[in-house]
Amino acid sequence: MAEILLISGSPTASSKSAALLEYSREWLRERSSFETALVSVRDFPTDDLILAKYDSPSFYVFKQQVSNAAGIIVSTPVYKAAYTGSLKALLDILPQYAFRGKTILPIASGGSPGHLLAIDYAIKPVLSTLGASDVLQGVYLVDQQFRIENGEPVVAGEVQQRLDESLAQFVANLEVRAAIR
Ligand SMILES: Cc1cc2nc3c(=O)[nH]c(=O)nc-3n(C[C@H](O)[C@H](O)[C@H](O)COP(=O)(O)O)c2cc1C
Repeated sequence: MAEILLISGSPTASSKSAALLEYSREWLRERSSFETALVSVRDFPTDDLILAKYDSPSFYVFKQQVSNAAGIIVSTPVYKAAYTGSLKALLDILPQYAFRGKTILPIASGGSPGHLLAIDYAIKPVLSTLGASDVLQGVYLVDQQFRIENGEPVVAGEVQQRLDESLAQFVANLEVRAAIR
């Protein structure tokens, strides 16, 4: 089982926030020894998500992946000043303290810099409700700061540095927790 689980909260097929997650996965592959796995809200039956069928077999592997992960990266586009409804629907099927003891890195992409604080006022309270206490500051990128080429994000220098630094901090926190375990 993967030690780092990356969760994409975008319902869009060609997703910018999911591309940031792919970038993060590649970064982790190249610079850390952690195993990774990536899941998207798009992987689950819409009925199961919308009707909160938390006992559905379609969520079994996901719940195991969350339970076994030491670290989780959650990426979402900003929808109506918060995270997407589909990400919330996916997190809703998890047990109450599913994120307890895990290091979490939130990533969000938005169309406007006006929702820069969505990670703090919208995403972090949900992560906290799931029991997460080691939540990194997070990375918010505005659409103009990156573009997608061949499914990969091309990020401007200063922004890429911000993303890379957050990933390095995420790995450092995971290593510290692994050392004291
Ligand atoms: C339904 C919908 C609602 C959105 N609401 C906001 C918003 O409130 N604030 C914002 O900054 N961007 C908003 N956006 C823009 C997206 O957050 C932005 O384009 C994001 O990078 C898209 O990511 P994705 O390609 O992973 O879905 C919205 C987009 C959609 C489709």
